Amino acid sequence: HSPTSSTTHIGAGGETHQTAGGDTPVMTTQQGVAVSDDQNTLRAGARGPALMEDFHFREKIFHFDHERIPERVVHARGYGAHGYFELTDSLSDVCKADIFGNVGERTPAFVRFSTVAGNKGSADVVRDVRGFAVKLYTGQGNWDLVGNNIPVFFIQDAIKFPDFVHAAKQEPDRDFPQAQTAHDNFWDFVSLSPEATHMVMWAMSDRAIPRSFRFMEGFGVHTFRLVNDEGRSTYVKFHWKPKLGLQSVVWNEALKINGADPDFHRRDLWQAISSGNFPEWELGVQLFDDDFADSFDFDILDPTKLIPEELVPVRRVGRLVLDRMPDNFFAETEQVAFCTQNVVPGIDFTNDPLLQGRNFSYLDTQTKRLGGPNFTHIPINAPKCPFHNFQQDGHMAMHNPKGRANYEPNSWSQPAGGPRESVNGYRSYPDMVSGQKIRQRSESFADHYSQARQFFISQTPVEQTHIRDAFVFELSKVETPAIRARMVSHLLHVDQELAKGVAKGLGLSPLPAPAPAARPVVEGLEP
Ligand code: HEM
Repeated sequence: HSPTSSTTHIGAGGETHQTAGGDTPVMTTQQGVAVSDDQNTLRAGARGPALMEDFHFREKIFHFDHERIPERVVHARGYGAHGYFELTDSLSDVCKADIFGNVGERTPAFVRFSTVAGNKGSADVVRDVRGFAVKLYTGQGNWDLVGNNIPVFFIQDAIKFPDFVHAAKQEPDRDFPQAQTAHDNFWDFVSLSPEATHMVMWAMSDRAIPRSFRFMEGFGVHTFRLVNDEGRSTYVKFHWKPKLGLQSVVWNEALKINGADPDFHRRDLWQAISSGNFPEWELGVQLFDDDFADSFDFDILDPTKLIPEELVPVRRVGRLVLDRMPDNFFAETEQVAFCTQNVVPGIDFTNDPLLQGRNFSYLDTQTKRLGGPNFTHIPINAPKCPFHNFQQDGHMAMHNPKGRANYEPNSWSQPAGGPRESVNGYRSYPDMVSGQKIRQRSESFADHYSQARQFFISQTPVEQTHIRDAFVFELSKVETPAIRARMVSHLLHVDQELAKGVAKGLGLSPLPAPAPAARPVVEGLEP
């Protein structure tokens, strides 16, 4: 029997018991058995030992003991929200994906913003790149645009990613610093990797200390490929432009905010969405063809380079609105699994060596992080369109094949026969491929300084001062003089005044010689 309304009473030891009744549901075990007392273990006498047969206690503690899952190996600290993407300008001339076909159509979306280096419990307003990962639940399957708030990356080849991440996170002997670029290993690695120079300039700029997630741009980074109904391919760079504009904090503010409220960015997003101030971004695309790619000073496959907006303007084609916070952080934000490989017909890859490596890495890491091959069955990861296949079993299987057939071709009639191939299914763009099997970086990737210089020159004098001060602050935490000097030797290729200012701030004299450069700066690129 259950009481008609919930009641509270004090137990023999003075503990509070709240009893179900009325609208208050009955607490049960995982097996559905109603719980009579959640305040006391089953004991042999009120002051006696606990009894092994207390299945409620054992189940409760066992489940608690298993609450933690591995945090993401990068981008561990993040915050997500639900929303939708609405198309405002059709791209059907260049892309056959439904999401880009019908103006006004809305596609459900889930977005997770993150820092890269810090652990799950680290502070929000640190100097770091921010992840900007978007899952679009399209009618043709899930499309994930797994981007950052900076349009380029530190490395050109995915084989360097473990080294880069090891160098950026805590040092292995002392396990600090957390979420800081201010240490020897980070600067040792990037100063030995000239390809990082462009991204390091962005990381030392105000872009790396955004005021909130709502004031950040997002970028797909790589050159992707759109394919239309006729099978024609167009290259594309994806951009998210915040409706509120770009805003950052200054370094002094960042330090104070982190001390006063390490959850500053989470709180901002929670409060904005809860109070109906829905953040919004426009989706922009830079579209270009092989002729442009051939005429461009840099390789469009090199993820340390961007396509200047003066050369290829950004066309705005849609809006992303975030209007609902998750019901449960763990179920949604923690368990969401983005993957660059999740694409739909009309969207395809290029041979960017970083993108190709990412396509392997995400599924692999998520199989570990989320405990097996069935994490796509978790509601936040499952498509919102129908999905059927013959994959089966494994831990936590929720969608095993129905009926007799779990293979194809088969001769069973429907419904037992199950799903079949489709003429409209995903077909990879038939890019022509040939070449020797070698390990060699393309010479077209060798200019590491021109765009770094272009970025620096594009900044206002105040922003340039912030960049210089950031280099001085971060490098001043480096204990090894040779690493500081090596970094300045790269900055000499970017901007003489910057390099001299950083050297002065570090008390570095005389100036080191410029780093050996595979390619000198291309002149005439100043905006
Ligand atoms: C996670 C972006 C390069 C491996 C993430 C996340 C973002 C991101 C936004 C967080 C996703 C989330 O919120 O759950 C990028 C960008 C890159 C890049 C923009 C370069 C353009 C790479 C590379 C690799 C890699 C080269 C490996 C070869 C990972 C892994 C995770 C991750 C293993 C954790 C995923 C998880 O546990 O769910 N990345 N990343 N990333 N990234 Fe990347």
